[in-house]
Parts: sequence; structure tokens; C-alpha cells
Amino acid sequence: MGILNHIALISAAFVILQTRWSSSWPMDPTLGFLRLPLNKSNFHVQKPYDLQESERYSFKHGVHKMWVYFTDKPLYRNSPTHPRTEIRITGYDYSSGVWQFEGYGYVPCGTANVTIMQVFGGSPHATTFMLRVGQNGTLTYYRSAVLASNMYDRWFRLNVIHDANASHLKVYIDGVLKFEAPGRGGTSHYFKCGVYSQPDGSYYMESRWKGIKVLKKCG
Ligand SMILES: *[C@@H]1O[C@H](CO)[C@@H](O)[C@H](O)[C@H]1NC(C)=O
Ligand SMILES: *[C@@H]1O[C@H](CO)[C@@H](O)[C@H](O)[C@H]1NC(C)=O
Ligand SMILES: *[C@@H]1O[C@H](CO)[C@@H](O)[C@H](O)[C@H]1NC(C)=O
Ligand SMILES: *[C@@H]1O[C@H](CO)[C@@H](O)[C@H](O)[C@H]1NC(C)=O
Repeated sequence: MGILNHIALISAAFVILQTRWSSSWPMDPTLGFLRLPLNKSNFHVQKPYDLQESERYSFKHGVHKMWVYFTDKPLYRNSPTHPRTEIRITGYDYSSGVWQFEGYGYVPCGTANVTIMQVFGGSPHATTFMLRVGQNGTLTYYRSAVLASNMYDRWFRLNVIHDANASHLKVYIDGVLKFEAPGRGGTSHYFKCGVYSQPDGSYYMESRWKGIKVLKKCG
């Protein structure tokens, strides 16, 4: 290996160390993860059961747009759940290992009190993680911790790392580690994104997603 390669390697290592040392320094959370192949067959769209997919979902210029109204029907007839339009990632349900969801999300002003991303599977609760849009464009962990504010009308990068082995969750927004929490049990997990209304949800709810990736820790 030539001297220039050595210098490049050393400076790369230095950059990585620097980002590790400074938690508020944006980093690439996907380092050390393997990106898994995804195609249309891995995206199952859940929407109000009485409507066509095209009435609540569109995919244009690489952007998945999902919307739902508070008065819409749930995903199945007689389901007690609130209305949703969500992409449920299929083909990568997991029970162990370290998994990561990456996506660029966008929430238009007005959408409030709605879940926009989930790590499904938990026990006794149904989920391990819900990213919620609260009041005024906040992004929250369920109804508790605020992870980011003033997020309306702009794209943000979301990385969620779920270590199912160690039962641990990490959430990055725009490359910055914003939140960590223990897992919430469960034996089978998968990722979802879109809009899933909550009891106090706004009348109209929308989120857009692009660059969705599923990754798994190497080794
Ligand atoms: C899409 O992915 C599925 C599951 O990984 C695979 O079986 C299928 O062959 C892929 N289709 C195309 C067109 O790449
Ligand atoms: C997670 O645990 C499984 C066994 O339960 C093991 O095979 C796997 O290597 C572990 N993965 C990591 C990333 O530690
Ligand atoms: C949202 O913003 C309005 C207007 O600035 C403010 O009155 C209200 O307290 C904020 N709500 C929350 C939950 O931050
Ligand atoms: C969001 O929920 C809060 C608290 O339940 C409520 O006061 C507010 O009106 C809701 N926001 C919208 C836009 O529906």
C-alpha cells in the first residue's frame, strides 16, 4: 500500500473517531451495516379497507406520499384501530440481530398527533418504537420525549437502529443521535412508515418518504 493510501486511511479513521467523540456531530449511522435489497414487492401499502390504494397513496419521482383523514375507515373491516396509510416493509421480519431503517421523511404543516414511523412488535405493547408528530411540528418518542422541533415542511433523514439482541433502540435525525431507549420486548419485528392516526389526530394527515433502506449489522 502506498503512502498516500496510508494517509487517506489515517484521516478517514480520524474523521470516524472525531464523529464518535462528539455526539452532536452528524455522522453516518449506516456505517458497519449492510444494505439489503428492496423492491416493490417489499412495500405493502395498508390503507382504509374501503378505498383504492391510489386514493391514499402515490409514488412519484421516488417519493412515497401517504395521506389519510381522521374520519377514514381502518385497514380491516371491524378493526378497532385508527385509520392509517402506511408502508409495511415485508420480507425482513426479524427476531434477532441489529436492524436499521433509514428514510428521508417530510411532514406538511397541519399534520399533528399522528405516528409516522414504527418498529412493530413488542410485548405486552404492540410496538417497540413509534415516531409521532406532535403539536407544532415536533417529533416525539410516543407521547413523551421530544426528539426534534419545527420539523414541518422540510425533509429530514431518519435512522432507527433496533438491536433486538441487546433490546436497545437508537434514533438519529439528520445524522445526529437524538434518543436511546430500551427495547419493548416482542419476538417478531418489522418497519413501517406513513401516517397512522392517534385519538387526537388532525383531520388531514400526510407524510412523504424517499430513500427507504433496510440495513442489517454486519457480522
Ligand atoms: C424483489 O424482491 C423479492 C424478495 O427479495 C425477490 O424475490 C424478487 O425476485 C425481486 N424482484 C425483482 C424484480 O427484482
Ligand atoms: C444476535 O443473536 C443471534 C443468536 O440469538 C446471533 O446468531 C447473532 O450473531 C447475534 N447478532 C449480533 C449482531 O450480535
Ligand atoms: C404551539 O405553538 C403555539 C403558537 O406559537 C403555542 O401557543 C403553543 O403553546 C405551542 N404548543 C406546543 C405544544 O408547543
Ligand atoms: C393534538 O393533540 C392535542 C392534545 O390532545 C390537541 O390539543 C390538539 O388540538 C391536537 N392537534 C390537532 C392539530 O388536532
